[in-house]
Amino acid sequence: PLIDSKGMLIYAMENKFAVGAFNANNLETAQAIIEAAEEENAPVIVQISQGAIDYAGEDCFFAIVKTLAQKASVPVVCHLDHGVDFGTVIRALRAGFTSLMFDGSSLPFEENVKITKMLVEIAHASGVPLEAEIGKVPDAAKGPLSPEEVKKYLTTPEEAQEFCEKTGVDSLAVAVGSAHRMKVQSVRLDIERIANIRERVGVPLVLHGASGVMDESVIEAIKAGISKINFATELNKAFTNAIKEKLQAEPELVDVRKYGAYARERVKKVVKEKIKLLNSTGKA
Ligand code: G3H
Ligand code: ZN
Repeated sequence: PLIDSKGMLIYAMENKFAVGAFNANNLETAQAIIEAAEEENAPVIVQISQGAIDYAGEDCFFAIVKTLAQKASVPVVCHLDHGVDFGTVIRALRAGFTSLMFDGSSLPFEENVKITKMLVEIAHASGVPLEAEIGKVPDAAKGPLSPEEVKKYLTTPEEAQEFCEKTGVDSLAVAVGSAHRMKVQSVRLDIERIANIRERVGVPLVLHGASGVMDESVIEAIKAGISKINFATELNKAFTNAIKEKLQAEPELVDVRKYGAYARERVKKVVKEKIKLLNSTGKA
């Protein structure tokens, strides 16, 4: 069934595992994510980013996730990932998304607080939870960032606490050493920082940019108090590499379903591995 993320993430926080939040950019990826969760009997979050909405529209993606979720044997959330402006968050809410993120991490602190607080009130009036971000998970799409660069974006426990108190957010994305869009697993997270934030903040904590984080560091992060973990690039990589291989092996193929189904299987395999890593197998 399609549910909201509030109880799901609190359950994860209380039971020391993390819910996998996987980005879908097309039908096949959404199918792969939900099938993987069913086979692992795990709760799952399918997330649609602002970029995905620009690509195909929030209504189309919501229809896909809702249809698949209603038939699924496990709880599924349809989450807006990195809504970067007020309007996008409102449109996702109106489309039916059962969980939202407003990402004001590029704004000055007080401005981020102001817009987040407003959106929390609106989302809550509709019974939908909202995630926000403090500190900034940087983008490493153009190559690895220097340790100094990563450092300047890190979330401090004090600002995390103040941000949560002032906004009433349901979950908090924190910058603890990871970066978005990394193609290799090489990051070790600041585990002590996670534990310190965990002590001061009452809501579930979210790790972004997990594609670049080493497995053992992911496990430590969960122990230290992370409850939702976002993966996008690894799924994109699996999908694209699978299609490249398939078409290289069978260049005469023209039926999109043939290589689509092949890529879907490969994404499903990745999602199942991540669900196991997060210890969410059997937690549905
Ligand atoms: O919000 C999405 C995630 O933070 C995914 O990051 O593409 O580095 O896995 P990633
Ligand atoms: Zn992210």
